[in-house]
Amino acid sequence: MTIIIDGKKVSAQVKEQVRIETEELVKKGIRPGLAVIIVGDDPASRVYVNNKKKACEKVGFLSKEFALPATTTQEELLSLVKELNEDKEINGILCQLPLPKGLDEKAVIEAISPLKDVDAFHASNVGKIMIGDYDFLPCTPAGVMEMLHSYNIPVEGKECVVIGRSNIVGKPMAMLLLHENGTVTITHSRTKNLKEVTKRADILVAAIGKPKFVTADMVKEGAVVIDVGMDRDENGKLCGDVDFENVKEKCSAITPVPGGVGPMTIAVLMKNTLKACKIQNN
Ligand code: GUN
Repeated sequence: MTIIIDGKKVSAQVKEQVRIETEELVKKGIRPGLAVIIVGDDPASRVYVNNKKKACEKVGFLSKEFALPATTTQEELLSLVKELNEDKEINGILCQLPLPKGLDEKAVIEAISPLKDVDAFHASNVGKIMIGDYDFLPCTPAGVMEMLHSYNIPVEGKECVVIGRSNIVGKPMAMLLLHENGTVTITHSRTKNLKEVTKRADILVAAIGKPKFVTADMVKEGAVVIDVGMDRDENGKLCGDVDFENVKEKCSAITPVPGGVGPMTIAVLMKNTLKACKIQNN
């Protein structure tokens, strides 16, 4: 029987732990605060931001949303980030990506104080992850690791294949698997004989953003398949990067979309914000 990894359940456990610790902090007069910046009106970003706000309420954080119009200038955005860097009520700052055309994402990420960078996107935090000495882990890859831990899926010595090399998921995902002694391969759009590589994987992570890209013939019998995709199928229905119905017959464990990696990303964001708050109040 294939295990369907329940991201909602694991996420609820992580958030409950954060809620308990937050309650203790609040008793001491400290409330963790997260600022979420959203620019423009991308519908997917709106859903993600709403979910992040809801999670903040659930664990007892202060959450402040800054919804800016798509016409916002780079200077205005940077000046908001600067204000939030100084704001004592705010421990974590997150600028929802992608930004509308004309805005420089890299400059915005680098303007966020590394101490408040709960996405772990700042070059200084990325560098710390690389050397294995970090405060924050990037939310989605760390969420994947938490799911593996929760289901007692060992990484050490396993063939781990990541499809996709983005700064947000693919690259840091590979690094975290490496930290746990996996043998890691990163594949991407220029990889030759992709299927031959993915078929080697004991743990296969799909993070490419193409609906149902990973088909059963690309998966080894008994593999663990993690689907980071948030795509729309030909009927506009939410689906992942993995052809779930067919792949699930072949693997030993798989994450569904929705209800897999997505909720975990938010749970780790809550963990990171709590940690940022603790560090800043130390
Ligand atoms: N866009 C897609 N994923 C993320 C994320 O984890 N953080 C932010 N800030 N933007 C995103």
